[in-house]
Amino acid sequence: MTSIIPLAEIDPQLVDALLDAAFGKDRHDRTAYKLREGMDMLEGLSIAAVDEEKHELLGSIQCWPIALTDDDGKMHPMIMVGPVAVYPDFQREGIGRAMMAALLKEIQPNDPLPLVMIGDPEYYERFFDFTAEATQEWTLPGPWEPSRLLVRANPNVSLPRTGTLGPWPR
Ligand SMILES: CC(C)(COP(=O)(O)OP(=O)(O)OC[C@H]1O[C@@H](n2cnc3c(N)ncnc32)[C@H](O)[C@@H]1OP(=O)(O)O)[C@@H](O)C(=O)NCCC(=O)NCCS
Repeated sequence: MTSIIPLAEIDPQLVDALLDAAFGKDRHDRTAYKLREGMDMLEGLSIAAVDEEKHELLGSIQCWPIALTDDDGKMHPMIMVGPVAVYPDFQREGIGRAMMAALLKEIQPNDPLPLVMIGDPEYYERFFDFTAEATQEWTLPGPWEPSRLLVRANPNVSLPRTGTLGPWPR
């Protein structure tokens, strides 16, 4: 049976092996890693999917504190979601959706920070209401495909039209 547990309970080496399998060993060069450089993972929002019987890690989601700095220099806190990873042998079995559902349940329903990610819009828009509409004039500390820079925000929150994403300053 698959269970969702805190990622902090998993040996970090096992998480690294999962991420290498899902994204390749050159994953550290990705812009997503620059976005949260120097940050500690948000443990309360980072989760693992495990096979309880086999004591096997199947998937993980990490979340990070980031900010969008607008043109006036004001920082808007946001939560970066990712990497989201499922072992290739277990993909398309509902594990990604189960992990995202568990994460969205943890997010404060009344006053959520915007969630940001770089990912496939075909998946994250279809199942979880992320869209790239609001991010088209945002900039990142590295190359990115605008259609893959996604945000999920409370409709009452007005997001800056322009700005630069980066780590939340310590
Ligand atoms: C993307 C990922 C997290 C999805 O998790 P998963 O457990 O494989 O997917 P689920 O089983 O929850 O969802 C299955 C459904 O989503 C669709 N889907 C899965 N990955 C998709 C993708 N990358 N793009 C579009 N649709 C996708 C499947 O076709 C399926 O749709 P169906 O029910 O109509 O057949 C996983 O495939 C993965 O780790 N991929 C490699 C790493 C990656 O690209 N991560 C995302 C960027 S952060």
